[in-house]
Amino acid sequence: MDDLFDCAPPLDSTEAARQDSLLAPRFYTTDFAAMDRIDVSPVRQDWDALMEEFRADINKGHFERAGSFKEAVDQLQEPLRSEFLDFLISSVTAEYSGCVLYNEIAKHVTNPDIKELMRSMARDEARHASFINHSLRDFGLAVDLGRLKREKKQTYFAPKFIFYATYLSEKIGYARYISIYRQLEAHPEFRFHPIFSWFERWCNDEFRHGEAFALLMRADPSLLAGRNRLWIRFFLVAVYATMYVRDQRRVVLHDAFGLDPQQYDFQVFDITSAITRQVFPFTLDTNHPAFRTLLASLRAVLDASEGAKRRGGLSGWLTRGWCAVQAATLFVRLYLHPVVPNRLPADIRLVPAW
Ligand SMILES: [Fe+2]
Ligand SMILES: [Fe+2]
Repeated sequence: MDDLFDCAPPLDSTEAARQDSLLAPRFYTTDFAAMDRIDVSPVRQDWDALMEEFRADINKGHFERAGSFKEAVDQLQEPLRSEFLDFLISSVTAEYSGCVLYNEIAKHVTNPDIKELMRSMARDEARHASFINHSLRDFGLAVDLGRLKREKKQTYFAPKFIFYATYLSEKIGYARYISIYRQLEAHPEFRFHPIFSWFERWCNDEFRHGEAFALLMRADPSLLAGRNRLWIRFFLVAVYATMYVRDQRRVVLHDAFGLDPQQYDFQVFDITSAITRQVFPFTLDTNHPAFRTLLASLRAVLDASEGAKRRGGLSGWLTRGWCAVQAATLFVRLYLHPVVPNRLPADIRLVPAW
């Protein structure tokens, strides 16, 4: 992982990645002693098969650059250039956030199952982060990952919250990357940068990481029952709503893919919900018109809040306060929207078939 720390000098992209906002990817830390006590014996057979996949490391040679990365960046025009750059910065932050968390857990536990898993996933995320960082260098920018690790605030999450949040972000990450990949496979004329050709095998790594968290949760059924169902619902709403609001702001980027951001997001939700039936006792009813209306309202309120922030002054401050109240109310209404119940399958494992 040392190659992660020899990045270009700190530039504006590091500052952008360091900013903690509601929608930006975060860095996490957890209770390592509790991680050490995890027992995977209830899912041992599936676990061993999954670890064999990690050991096989089929993507070892995949993240080597070939083709005209730099030329593609040189040809990019505004405003696509800025939106693509923003996409790369938030992606590298998310990848590196996974790398740091998995690496820290691996360092602090002695449980051989958890240690090997975390090491393997940190290896993958380090590759992903440094691959994106190479593309940032083509812009004359690179996120100084070492500095980011030192300076970005870490959020403490108990292990079960790490499972819910990280499982979802791995699976939604898979759904996002594969949806873009399939769109550009069908419409190569929209592939404005070569990095998208790497997405298929790349997102299989994310899928596999998600499988590991699915097994960890299925190994302890109490994580999926009782009051924990309320937490699962909270994380589903938070992750889906965050993705939706962030994506709807990237109109130019989605346009360049030939995708409508709304359709793209609802397709990503469909794929993610289909996958999460392996572990969660319900899915969000994202195709219900009322749910969609609430998401659109939340986006409008958060956009108004951004506008007020730029405007500043007393009226801007008051508007932001009012927006915060409205956003909280909309979040609660999304949370209370009836979910679709799901009976957990006997076979836990899935293959990335989308
Ligand atoms: Fe990754
Ligand atoms: Fe991952």
